Amino acid sequence: MDYRFPLIEKLPPYVFAVITQYKMEARRRGEDIIDLGMGNPDLPTPDPIVDKMVEAARNSRNHRYSASRGIPNLRLEIARWYERRYGVEIDPETEAIATMGAKEGFSHLVMALVEPGTKVIVPDPSYPIHSFAATIAGCELIKLPIDQGADQMMESLRRLEYPKGQHPRLLILSFPHNPTTVTVNLDFFHEAVAIARERGYLIIHDLAYADLVFDGAEAPSILQVPGAKDVAVEMFSMSKSYSMAGWRVGFCAGNPQVVAALTRLKSYLDYGIFQPIQIASIIALRDCDEYVPEIAEVYRRRRDVLIKGLASAGWDVPTPKGTMFVWAKLPPAFAHLGSLEFAKQMIAKAGVAASPGNGFGERGEGYVRFALVENEQRIAQAVRGIKSFLTE
Ligand SMILES: Cc1ncc(COP(=O)(O)O)c(C=O)c1O
Repeated sequence: MDYRFPLIEKLPPYVFAVITQYKMEARRRGEDIIDLGMGNPDLPTPDPIVDKMVEAARNSRNHRYSASRGIPNLRLEIARWYERRYGVEIDPETEAIATMGAKEGFSHLVMALVEPGTKVIVPDPSYPIHSFAATIAGCELIKLPIDQGADQMMESLRRLEYPKGQHPRLLILSFPHNPTTVTVNLDFFHEAVAIARERGYLIIHDLAYADLVFDGAEAPSILQVPGAKDVAVEMFSMSKSYSMAGWRVGFCAGNPQVVAALTRLKSYLDYGIFQPIQIASIIALRDCDEYVPEIAEVYRRRRDVLIKGLASAGWDVPTPKGTMFVWAKLPPAFAHLGSLEFAKQMIAKAGVAASPGNGFGERGEGYVRFALVENEQRIAQAVRGIKSFLTE
């Protein structure tokens, strides 16, 4: 029997899967590959979070199904986090929901808000699920170029014109931005909220890199804009700020109708995050502020080693002000190869895996993305490999 799955046919192999396959093949050949491909944090989760998880896991009361939208004390802590960090008031009952990471929350949120054919505005390039959630939900994608920065993207947004009643429904934003590392200040969000209000868009802002900003750059919450809750929700991830990637926990906060829609959909799909993880997440949000700048500092130092090293190899790449990535235009002499072939050759000849930019969208072609997920010594070793590859 030859089965056809039309939805699956719309999903090309995930960009990270393609590069993982090349990396594994090289490793099978006995090569030491420094893996800067996937943004998979390598730092340990802070001890107080792990300790709380272990303690809570020993209590059999926590072994049952939990609350799909998150236990009340976690939602309360999310509200306190918003108040403390951004001066934003969130009602823990109606304006916050825990999710199994930002990725799960985001993709189900898109599903909850659209119907087949809905127009969804997504930056290009983008973190894959930001566009594929809409594809999975049968939406029409409207792409906004972000390869030249936030101003270019805002200008394209201003110029989008649709007849009355045919406007897109959803605007996806995410700053600091993966993969381009673009950051914005609050003025950007003021204008985005004003446009959304005028045209009837809902905004989902993914703030996964809230804490990974450097050199005085800002990572504002869109909810800081007065009235933003009328048109917007925000996703946050515990994966990067607290090195909790494998734990699968994040949250969504903002517009109560949108939060209610996600809550309803998730109540059909899951029974909540394992309760010890939720309890440990309360500790993270409540007691672990001091660890966050330390984690950010590790990424900043790695960034500097990579940027300086690439420059010494004759590859000048702008220093990112946010995220855990370096977004590098292919060196001119290699531009003809294209992103994927360059990334393949970098694995084979430099022993370094990076993500080909075209995996993030058409406008990512001509770039590779390095994730700063190996230590400084390994990054220095990566740079030596890249240097000999570029100068061979
Ligand atoms: C923009 C963005 N959002 C969300 C995620 C994933 O977050 P989580 O681990 O909470 O699902 C990532 C991970 O790379 C990301 O880059």
